[in-house]
Amino acid sequence: VEVYLNDQWMPSQEATVSVFDRSFMFADGIYEVTPFYNGKPFRIEDHVARVKYCLQQMNIDFDISALHDFMLEAVERSTFSKEDAAVYLQISRGMAPRSHFIPQEIKPTLLLYAFQVNLADFEDRHWKVMASEDFRWHRCDIKSTALLANTMANDAALSAGYDENLLFRNGHFTEGSHTTIFFVKNKTVYTHPEGRQILSGITRKVVLELCRDLDIVVKEEAFPVSGLKEVDEIFLTGTTTQIAPVSSVTIEGKEMFASQKGEITARLQEEFVKRTR
Ligand code: PDD
Repeated sequence: VEVYLNDQWMPSQEATVSVFDRSFMFADGIYEVTPFYNGKPFRIEDHVARVKYCLQQMNIDFDISALHDFMLEAVERSTFSKEDAAVYLQISRGMAPRSHFIPQEIKPTLLLYAFQVNLADFEDRHWKVMASEDFRWHRCDIKSTALLANTMANDAALSAGYDENLLFRNGHFTEGSHTTIFFVKNKTVYTHPEGRQILSGITRKVVLELCRDLDIVVKEEAFPVSGLKEVDEIFLTGTTTQIAPVSSVTIEGKEMFASQKGEITARLQEEFVKRTR
């Protein structure tokens, strides 16, 4: 793969960063994943806007104006089939002698590349999930590369034969290790409100727009773990996940929810495909 690092394109084998890059020492950076359907970016402006928000929150001084074109170029330069792709980008604070103190004069490190993904036929991939305590930090709105708690949660699920781990805090679901969670109860859709407990998902935003267009009632409220038994449908969303029906939820070895794909999940998937294809 060809990657863009700092100021140039190069083969990935030649792309190296300093051991003193703060992304290596402190995970001091942010990232973004933007989907391309049939070679065309989807909601790229929203992805760039989220990068801008995260940089502001982290106090990283970086000019985002070229990111849009770099992402398009990454896909154009890719040698794999252009059907579906995604672009990963990461902005680290940059290189400095190791210190908790953040120096003023520091040049951020930009890394960006396209990779192949299969965005087709996602509708009938049912996700069997577990749920566990959310032990992440309290700034989950920042798409930080510090993903250790997310990767540990994900690994706990995958190593036990599940597809994802849904996280809860104070008895309420927040989000999945790399997905947004939606619940459907009595034809009303519930999802966690935006704020510091979750990432403001772009797919979440698209699904909320679809609900508005389809006259589906939405409540942006944290859903209680104790309410699982009254739930009709659960689905997960994310850039590569798109809209995934959850077939079962297990907590501490006990199955708390089981269902086929629900009616509202199916309607949203159908409408989502129309917008992305
Ligand atoms: N994951 N919540 C978390 C913690 C995430 O990491 C993601 C995305 C989402 C969904 O956000 P969006 O709809 O904007 O993709 C929610 C990305 C794709 C990843 O880490 O690879």
